Amino acid sequence: MAVEKKKIIIVGCGPGAEEHITPAARAAAGKAEVLIVSQRLKDLFPEIDAERIDSGTDIAGTLDMIASRRDDGRQVVLLATGDPGIASLAQPVIRRFGRENCEVIPGISSIQIAFARFGLDWKDVRIVTAHSSDPEESAAELRDCGKIAILGGRAGSLRWAAAMIPKFGADRRIFLCEDLTLPGEKIREVRAADLIRIPVSSRAIILIIRGGLL
Ligand SMILES: C[S@@+](CC[C@H](N)C(=O)[O-])C[C@H]1O[C@@H](n2cnc3c(N)ncnc32)[C@H](O)[C@@H]1O
Repeated sequence: MAVEKKKIIIVGCGPGAEEHITPAARAAAGKAEVLIVSQRLKDLFPEIDAERIDSGTDIAGTLDMIASRRDDGRQVVLLATGDPGIASLAQPVIRRFGRENCEVIPGISSIQIAFARFGLDWKDVRIVTAHSSDPEESAAELRDCGKIAILGGRAGSLRWAAAMIPKFGADRRIFLCEDLTLPGEKIREVRAADLIRIPVSSRAIILIIRGGLL
């Protein structure tokens, strides 16, 4: 008899703190027979009795493991930090298995938290992903953006940001937002050069705001 393949559930788990995991995310994760987790999320939901697979850095290998578990008829759940719509495995999974075979449960993004801390609107933010490699965006592309959020934390991303930000012009304020929602949360205004001088958490967003904060 043919095995019924279940939709892969992709769950946004928020920026770190338990209270920012939505009830919908918790309920969806609870359905897992196989949980795909990154190092950062490996200890989440210890009560769930599921096979845990480390998503690691081998994306193709992870997709193959998802395929094999799904072919067995098992419920695969992929956990993503923040919201799956920003810099997560969601897109590679959806491309491989098809939109119709995936369900996405949104989460609270670290970027939402950063903007919420300042009470700032984020409809016009330009998000730059620098957490795993240097971004392709040029200074010319970014110079006109009033609000930029760089997903950083990696030493290389801090070097990239420190070299790039001065090219945007003088009228910028730079805020380093680290470990948002976690006990060590720290938000401070810095100068571009500070980014390569001070210790920075691997969970960090650099917000660059043109003009004032209004
Ligand atoms: C792989 S990306 C995932 C982003 C995630 N999908 C989101 O919506 O927040 C990881 C990056 O998100 C940012 N990040 C995640 N959690 C954070 C936190 N609690 N505080 C500050 N930045 C965080 C950091 O820039 C980190 O390098």
